[in-house]
Amino acid sequence: IKRVGFVGWRGMVGSVLMERMRAEDDFAQIAEPVFFSTSQQGEPGPDVGRGPQPLGDANDLDALAAMDAILTCQGGDYTGAVFDPLRQRGWKGFWIDAASSLRMAPESTIVLDPVNRALIEDALHAGRRDFIGGNCTVSLMLMAIGELLRRDLVDWVSAMTYQAASGAGARNMRELLSQMGALHAAVASQLSDPGTAILDIDRAVSDCLRAESFPDELFTMPLAGSLIPWIDKAMPGGQSREEWKGGVETNKILGRSDRPIPVDGLCVRIGAMRCHSQGLTIKLRQAIPENEVADIIASANPWVRLIPNEREASILGLSPAMVSGTLDIPIGRLHPLAMGPDYFGAFTVGDQLLWGAAEPLRRMLRLLLE
Ligand code: HSE
Repeated sequence: IKRVGFVGWRGMVGSVLMERMRAEDDFAQIAEPVFFSTSQQGEPGPDVGRGPQPLGDANDLDALAAMDAILTCQGGDYTGAVFDPLRQRGWKGFWIDAASSLRMAPESTIVLDPVNRALIEDALHAGRRDFIGGNCTVSLMLMAIGELLRRDLVDWVSAMTYQAASGAGARNMRELLSQMGALHAAVASQLSDPGTAILDIDRAVSDCLRAESFPDELFTMPLAGSLIPWIDKAMPGGQSREEWKGGVETNKILGRSDRPIPVDGLCVRIGAMRCHSQGLTIKLRQAIPENEVADIIASANPWVRLIPNEREASILGLSPAMVSGTLDIPIGRLHPLAMGPDYFGAFTVGDQLLWGAAEPLRRMLRLLLE
Protein backbone atom coordinates (compact mmCIF):
# COMPACT_ATOMS: atom_id res chain seq x y z
CA ILE A 1 0.00 0.00 0.00
CA LYS A 2 1.26 3.45 -0.91
CA ARG A 3 -1.25 6.11 -0.03
CA VAL A 4 -2.44 6.23 3.56
CA GLY A 5 -5.07 8.76 4.61
CA PHE A 6 -5.27 10.00 8.19
CA VAL A 7 -8.46 11.44 9.64
CA GLY A 8 -8.95 12.71 13.18
CA TRP A 9 -5.20 12.90 13.77
CA ARG A 10 -5.48 16.13 15.78
CA GLY A 11 -7.86 14.91 18.49
CA MET A 12 -6.74 13.24 21.70
CA VAL A 13 -6.38 9.67 20.41
CA GLY A 14 -5.13 10.98 17.06
CA SER A 15 -2.42 13.06 18.74
CA VAL A 16 -1.24 10.05 20.76
CA LEU A 17 -1.19 8.06 17.53
CA MET A 18 0.90 10.72 15.76
CA GLU A 19 3.32 10.82 18.68
CA ARG A 20 3.73 7.04 18.61
CA MET A 21 4.08 6.92 14.81
CA ARG A 22 6.80 9.55 14.95
CA ALA A 23 8.56 7.74 17.79
CA GLU A 24 8.54 4.45 15.83
CA ASP A 25 9.46 6.15 12.54
CA ASP A 26 6.33 4.70 10.95
CA PHE A 27 6.00 7.53 8.46
CA ALA A 28 9.26 6.47 6.79
CA GLN A 29 7.40 3.31 5.69
CA ILE A 30 4.55 5.21 4.05
CA ALA A 31 5.15 6.32 0.45
CA GLU A 32 2.41 8.93 0.55
CA PRO A 33 0.78 9.94 3.84
CA VAL A 34 -2.23 12.21 3.27
CA PHE A 35 -3.77 14.16 6.12
CA PHE A 36 -7.45 15.02 5.99
CA SER A 37 -9.52 17.47 7.97
CA THR A 38 -13.24 17.93 8.42
CA SER A 39 -12.86 21.70 8.86
CA GLN A 40 -9.48 22.99 7.67
CA GLN A 41 -9.00 21.53 4.22
CA GLY A 42 -6.37 23.36 2.17
CA GLU A 43 -4.42 24.52 5.21
CA PRO A 44 -0.93 23.12 5.75
CA GLY A 45 -0.87 19.67 7.34
CA PRO A 46 1.75 18.28 9.73
CA ASP A 47 5.30 17.73 8.56
CA VAL A 48 6.08 14.05 8.82
CA GLY A 49 9.36 14.22 6.94
CA ARG A 50 8.25 15.50 3.54
CA GLY A 51 7.32 19.08 4.40
CA PRO A 52 3.75 20.10 5.21
CA GLN A 53 1.20 19.23 2.52
CA PRO A 54 -2.24 20.84 2.22
CA LEU A 55 -4.94 19.06 4.20
CA GLY A 56 -7.50 17.09 2.20
CA ASP A 57 -11.25 17.28 2.76
CA ALA A 58 -12.25 14.39 5.04
CA ASN A 59 -15.76 14.39 3.57
CA ASP A 60 -14.61 14.25 -0.07
CA LEU A 61 -15.33 10.66 -1.08
CA ASP A 62 -13.30 10.97 -4.29
CA ALA A 63 -10.22 12.03 -2.33
CA LEU A 64 -10.75 9.29 0.26
CA ALA A 65 -11.28 6.67 -2.44
CA ALA A 66 -7.82 7.44 -3.83
CA MET A 67 -6.27 6.05 -0.61
CA ASP A 68 -5.00 2.47 -0.25
CA ALA A 69 -5.71 2.67 3.47
CA ILE A 70 -7.50 5.10 5.74
CA LEU A 71 -6.79 5.35 9.46
CA THR A 72 -9.42 7.31 11.37
CA CYS A 73 -9.58 8.50 14.96
CA GLN A 74 -12.34 10.94 14.08
CA GLY A 75 -15.09 9.10 15.95
CA GLY A 76 -18.25 7.12 15.33
CA ASP A 77 -20.29 9.89 13.67
CA TYR A 78 -17.65 10.30 10.98
CA THR A 79 -17.42 6.55 10.42
CA GLY A 80 -21.21 6.44 10.19
CA ALA A 81 -21.27 9.18 7.59
CA VAL A 82 -18.39 8.09 5.38
CA PHE A 83 -17.72 4.36 5.59
CA ASP A 84 -20.81 2.94 3.85
CA PRO A 85 -20.83 5.45 0.97
CA LEU A 86 -17.13 4.74 0.39
CA ARG A 87 -17.62 0.98 0.25
CA GLN A 88 -20.79 1.35 -1.82
CA ARG A 89 -18.85 3.14 -4.52
CA GLY A 90 -16.51 0.14 -4.66
CA TRP A 91 -13.56 1.35 -2.59
CA LYS A 92 -11.38 -1.66 -1.74
CA GLY A 93 -8.84 -0.05 0.59
CA PHE A 94 -8.08 -0.91 4.21
CA TRP A 95 -10.15 0.90 6.83
CA ILE A 96 -8.51 1.18 10.26
CA ASP A 97 -10.76 2.79 12.84
CA ALA A 98 -10.64 3.73 16.53
CA ALA A 99 -14.43 4.13 16.80
CA SER A 100 -16.70 1.37 18.01
CA SER A 101 -19.34 1.64 15.23
CA LEU A 102 -17.99 -1.16 13.02
CA ARG A 103 -16.42 -3.41 15.69
CA MET A 104 -19.11 -6.02 15.86
CA ALA A 105 -19.88 -6.03 12.11
CA PRO A 106 -19.26 -9.54 10.73
CA GLU A 107 -16.73 -8.25 8.15
CA SER A 108 -14.70 -6.42 10.81
CA THR A 109 -11.71 -7.72 12.70
CA ILE A 110 -10.94 -6.20 16.11
CA VAL A 111 -7.18 -5.66 16.18
CA LEU A 112 -4.93 -6.36 19.15
CA ASP A 113 -2.00 -8.10 17.48
CA PRO A 114 -0.04 -9.19 20.58
CA VAL A 115 -3.15 -11.23 21.40
CA ASN A 116 -4.78 -12.04 18.06
CA ARG A 117 -2.12 -11.74 15.37
CA ALA A 118 -3.13 -15.10 13.87
CA LEU A 119 -6.74 -13.99 13.57
CA ILE A 120 -5.63 -10.75 11.89
CA GLU A 121 -3.50 -12.68 9.42
CA ASP A 122 -6.36 -15.05 8.65
CA ALA A 123 -8.59 -12.04 8.04
CA LEU A 124 -6.03 -10.54 5.65
CA HIS A 125 -5.73 -13.82 3.74
CA ALA A 126 -9.51 -13.98 3.54
CA GLY A 127 -9.52 -10.52 1.93
CA ARG A 128 -10.98 -8.65 4.89
CA ARG A 129 -10.36 -4.92 4.85
CA ASP A 130 -11.98 -3.50 7.98
CA PHE A 131 -9.70 -3.47 11.04
CA ILE A 132 -11.10 -1.83 14.14
CA GLY A 133 -9.47 -1.02 17.46
CA GLY A 134 -11.14 -2.64 20.47
CA ASN A 135 -12.73 -1.04 23.50
CA CYS A 136 -9.98 0.31 25.74
CA THR A 137 -10.92 -1.72 28.80
CA VAL A 138 -11.13 -4.93 26.80
CA SER A 139 -7.79 -4.37 25.06
CA LEU A 140 -6.06 -3.56 28.35
CA MET A 141 -7.52 -6.64 30.06
CA LEU A 142 -6.45 -8.89 27.19
CA MET A 143 -2.93 -7.45 27.11
CA ALA A 144 -2.73 -8.54 30.76
CA ILE A 145 -4.51 -11.92 30.88
CA GLY A 146 -5.29 -12.73 27.24
CA GLU A 147 -2.84 -15.64 27.20
CA LEU A 148 -4.81 -17.48 29.91
CA LEU A 149 -7.94 -17.14 27.78
CA ARG A 150 -6.14 -17.97 24.53
CA ARG A 151 -4.94 -21.25 26.08
CA ASP A 152 -8.53 -22.00 27.02
CA LEU A 153 -7.71 -22.20 30.74
CA VAL A 154 -10.48 -19.84 31.82
CA ASP A 155 -14.08 -20.62 32.66
CA TRP A 156 -15.14 -17.00 33.17
CA VAL A 157 -13.79 -13.59 34.15
CA SER A 158 -15.35 -10.85 36.23
CA ALA A 159 -13.79 -7.43 35.60
CA MET A 160 -14.58 -4.63 38.04
CA THR A 161 -13.21 -1.50 36.42
CA TYR A 162 -11.85 1.82 37.62
CA GLN A 163 -11.91 3.88 34.43
CA ALA A 164 -10.13 7.16 33.83
CA ALA A 165 -11.66 10.44 32.68
CA SER A 166 -9.88 10.23 29.30
CA GLY A 167 -12.21 7.42 28.23
CA ALA A 168 -15.02 9.95 28.28
CA GLY A 169 -13.04 12.45 26.17
CA ALA A 170 -10.58 15.32 26.30
CA ARG A 171 -13.13 17.82 27.59
CA ASN A 172 -14.03 15.46 30.42
CA MET A 173 -10.39 15.37 31.52
CA ARG A 174 -10.51 19.14 31.78
CA GLU A 175 -13.75 18.95 33.71
CA LEU A 176 -12.22 16.51 36.19
CA LEU A 177 -9.40 18.98 36.83
CA SER A 178 -11.86 21.85 37.18
CA GLN A 179 -13.74 19.81 39.76
CA MET A 180 -10.53 19.16 41.68
CA GLY A 181 -9.74 22.88 41.55
CA ALA A 182 -13.23 23.86 42.74
CA LEU A 183 -12.98 21.49 45.69
CA HIS A 184 -9.61 22.79 46.72
CA ALA A 185 -10.70 26.40 46.33
CA ALA A 186 -13.73 25.75 48.54
CA VAL A 187 -11.55 24.80 51.51
CA ALA A 188 -8.17 26.38 50.76
CA SER A 189 -8.17 28.73 53.72
CA GLN A 190 -9.36 26.06 56.17
CA LEU A 191 -6.74 23.64 54.82
CA SER A 192 -3.95 26.12 55.43
CA ASP A 193 -4.92 26.25 59.09
CA PRO A 194 -3.91 22.93 60.70
CA GLY A 195 -6.31 23.71 63.55
CA THR A 196 -9.45 23.47 61.38
CA ALA A 197 -11.51 20.40 62.28
CA ILE A 198 -11.54 17.83 59.44
CA LEU A 199 -15.32 17.46 59.72
CA ASP A 200 -15.73 21.18 59.06
CA ILE A 201 -13.54 20.82 55.97
CA ASP A 202 -15.51 17.77 54.88
CA ARG A 203 -18.80 19.63 55.29
CA ALA A 204 -17.53 22.43 53.07
CA VAL A 205 -16.37 19.86 50.49
CA SER A 206 -19.76 18.13 50.49
CA ASP A 207 -21.52 21.47 50.09
CA CYS A 208 -19.27 22.27 47.15
CA LEU A 209 -19.85 18.85 45.53
CA ARG A 210 -23.61 19.33 45.81
CA ALA A 211 -23.72 23.00 44.83
CA GLU A 212 -25.56 24.03 41.68
CA SER A 213 -22.39 25.81 40.56
CA PHE A 214 -20.14 22.70 40.75
CA PRO A 215 -18.56 22.18 37.30
CA ASP A 216 -20.19 18.93 36.13
CA GLU A 217 -21.77 19.85 32.79
CA LEU A 218 -20.22 16.83 31.02
CA PHE A 219 -20.09 14.14 33.70
CA THR A 220 -23.40 15.46 35.12
CA MET A 221 -22.17 14.41 38.59
CA PRO A 222 -19.02 14.94 40.67
CA LEU A 223 -16.14 12.68 39.66
CA ALA A 224 -13.45 14.37 41.77
CA GLY A 225 -13.99 13.32 45.37
CA SER A 226 -16.56 10.80 44.16
CA LEU A 227 -17.15 8.23 41.39
CA ILE A 228 -19.72 7.39 38.72
CA PRO A 229 -20.90 3.76 38.63
CA TRP A 230 -22.22 3.72 35.05
CA ILE A 231 -20.40 4.13 31.72
CA ASP A 232 -22.20 4.55 28.39
CA LYS A 233 -25.79 3.63 27.51
CA ALA A 234 -27.99 0.96 29.07
CA MET A 235 -28.27 -2.46 27.45
CA PRO A 236 -31.12 -4.92 27.91
CA GLY A 237 -30.59 -7.16 30.95
CA GLY A 238 -29.11 -4.55 33.27
CA GLN A 239 -25.61 -4.18 31.81
CA SER A 240 -24.15 -0.88 30.70
CA ARG A 241 -22.83 -0.86 27.15
CA GLU A 242 -19.26 -0.73 28.47
CA GLU A 243 -19.94 -3.93 30.45
CA TRP A 244 -21.57 -5.60 27.43
CA LYS A 245 -18.50 -4.83 25.31
CA GLY A 246 -16.34 -6.73 27.80
CA GLY A 247 -17.99 -10.00 26.85
CA VAL A 248 -18.66 -9.61 23.15
CA GLU A 249 -15.41 -7.90 22.18
CA THR A 250 -13.19 -10.21 24.22
CA ASN A 251 -14.63 -13.22 22.46
CA LYS A 252 -14.50 -11.60 19.04
CA ILE A 253 -10.83 -10.68 19.54
CA LEU A 254 -10.10 -14.27 20.55
CA GLY A 255 -12.09 -15.60 17.59
CA ARG A 256 -14.45 -17.56 19.80
CA SER A 257 -17.76 -15.73 19.52
CA ASP A 258 -19.35 -19.12 18.77
CA ARG A 259 -18.23 -20.57 22.13
CA PRO A 260 -17.84 -17.48 24.29
CA ILE A 261 -16.07 -17.28 27.62
CA PRO A 262 -18.36 -15.22 29.90
CA VAL A 263 -16.73 -11.88 30.77
CA ASP A 264 -18.83 -9.51 32.85
CA GLY A 265 -18.61 -7.09 35.73
CA LEU A 266 -19.30 -3.51 36.72
CA CYS A 267 -17.66 -0.56 34.96
CA VAL A 268 -17.04 2.49 37.10
CA ARG A 269 -15.59 5.91 36.28
CA ILE A 270 -13.08 7.24 38.80
CA GLY A 271 -10.94 10.37 38.96
CA ALA A 272 -7.82 9.01 37.24
CA MET A 273 -6.58 10.92 34.20
CA ARG A 274 -5.81 8.35 31.48
CA CYS A 275 -5.16 4.93 33.03
CA HIS A 276 -7.93 2.40 33.33
CA SER A 277 -7.57 -0.14 36.15
CA GLN A 278 -9.43 -3.40 36.63
CA GLY A 279 -9.91 -5.77 39.53
CA LEU A 280 -10.24 -9.23 38.01
CA THR A 281 -11.75 -12.42 39.33
CA ILE A 282 -10.55 -15.26 37.11
CA LYS A 283 -12.29 -18.61 37.36
CA LEU A 284 -10.03 -21.26 35.85
CA ARG A 285 -11.38 -24.45 34.29
CA GLN A 286 -9.28 -26.35 36.81
CA ALA A 287 -6.89 -25.57 39.65
CA ILE A 288 -3.47 -24.42 38.39
CA PRO A 289 -0.57 -23.57 40.72
CA GLU A 290 -0.04 -19.86 41.25
CA ASN A 291 3.48 -19.89 39.80
CA GLU A 292 2.21 -21.45 36.57
CA VAL A 293 -0.54 -18.86 36.24
CA ALA A 294 2.08 -16.17 36.90
CA ASP A 295 4.44 -17.60 34.25
CA ILE A 296 1.72 -17.73 31.61
CA ILE A 297 0.73 -14.13 32.31
CA ALA A 298 4.30 -12.82 32.44
CA SER A 299 5.45 -14.47 29.22
CA ALA A 300 2.46 -13.39 27.11
CA ASN A 301 3.99 -10.32 25.45
CA PRO A 302 6.83 -7.83 25.91
CA TRP A 303 4.64 -5.19 27.63
CA VAL A 304 3.02 -7.12 30.45
CA ARG A 305 4.81 -6.78 33.82
CA LEU A 306 4.03 -9.09 36.67
CA ILE A 307 4.14 -7.16 39.93
CA PRO A 308 4.89 -9.25 43.04
CA ASN A 309 1.91 -9.47 45.36
CA GLU A 310 3.54 -7.40 48.08
CA ARG A 311 2.39 -4.11 49.51
CA GLU A 312 5.23 -1.81 48.42
CA ALA A 313 5.60 -3.33 44.97
CA SER A 314 1.82 -3.23 44.42
CA ILE A 315 1.16 0.37 45.35
CA LEU A 316 4.15 1.49 43.30
CA GLY A 317 3.78 -0.78 40.29
CA LEU A 318 0.00 -0.70 40.01
CA SER A 319 -0.44 3.05 40.31
CA PRO A 320 -2.31 4.73 37.45
CA ALA A 321 -0.24 7.85 38.14
CA MET A 322 2.97 5.92 37.42
CA VAL A 323 1.76 3.90 34.44
CA SER A 324 0.25 6.91 32.65
CA GLY A 325 1.95 7.69 29.34
CA THR A 326 3.74 4.32 29.13
CA LEU A 327 3.06 1.16 27.16
CA ASP A 328 3.56 -0.98 30.26
CA ILE A 329 0.78 -3.33 31.28
CA PRO A 330 1.42 -4.09 34.94
CA ILE A 331 -0.65 -6.83 36.54
CA GLY A 332 -0.35 -7.82 40.16
CA ARG A 333 -2.22 -8.69 43.36
CA LEU A 334 -2.27 -12.17 41.81
CA HIS A 335 -3.28 -14.76 44.38
CA PRO A 336 -5.77 -17.59 44.81
CA LEU A 337 -9.09 -16.43 46.23
CA ALA A 338 -10.97 -17.90 49.17
CA MET A 339 -13.58 -19.32 46.77
CA GLY A 340 -11.24 -22.18 45.84
CA PRO A 341 -7.94 -23.13 44.17
CA ASP A 342 -9.39 -22.50 40.71
CA TYR A 343 -10.20 -18.83 41.51
CA PHE A 344 -7.57 -16.10 41.16
CA GLY A 345 -7.75 -12.41 41.93
CA ALA A 346 -5.62 -9.89 40.03
CA PHE A 347 -5.38 -6.16 39.44
CA THR A 348 -4.15 -4.56 36.25
CA VAL A 349 -3.53 -1.01 35.03
CA GLY A 350 -2.97 0.38 31.55
CA ASP A 351 -2.86 3.63 29.63
CA GLN A 352 -6.24 4.01 27.99
CA LEU A 353 -4.91 6.14 25.12
CA LEU A 354 -1.93 3.91 24.25
CA TRP A 355 -2.74 0.16 24.32
CA GLY A 356 -6.34 1.18 24.94
CA ALA A 357 -6.67 3.14 21.70
CA ALA A 358 -3.78 4.32 19.50
CA GLU A 359 -1.21 1.53 19.71
CA PRO A 360 -3.22 -1.36 18.22
CA LEU A 361 -4.13 0.90 15.27
CA ARG A 362 -0.58 2.00 14.46
CA ARG A 363 0.59 -1.60 14.74
CA MET A 364 -2.15 -2.73 12.34
CA LEU A 365 -1.05 -0.11 9.84
CA ARG A 366 2.56 -1.18 10.30
CA LEU A 367 1.54 -4.77 9.58
CA LEU A 368 0.00 -3.66 6.29
CA LEU A 369 3.14 -1.72 5.38
CA GLU A 370 5.54 -4.62 5.94
N1 HSE B 1 -15.59 3.57 26.57
C1 HSE B 1 -14.36 3.80 27.25
C2 HSE B 1 -14.55 4.67 28.44
C3 HSE B 1 -13.35 4.45 26.36
O1 HSE B 1 -15.59 5.35 28.50
O2 HSE B 1 -13.70 4.70 29.31
C4 HSE B 1 -13.29 4.00 24.94
O3 HSE B 1 -12.93 2.68 24.72
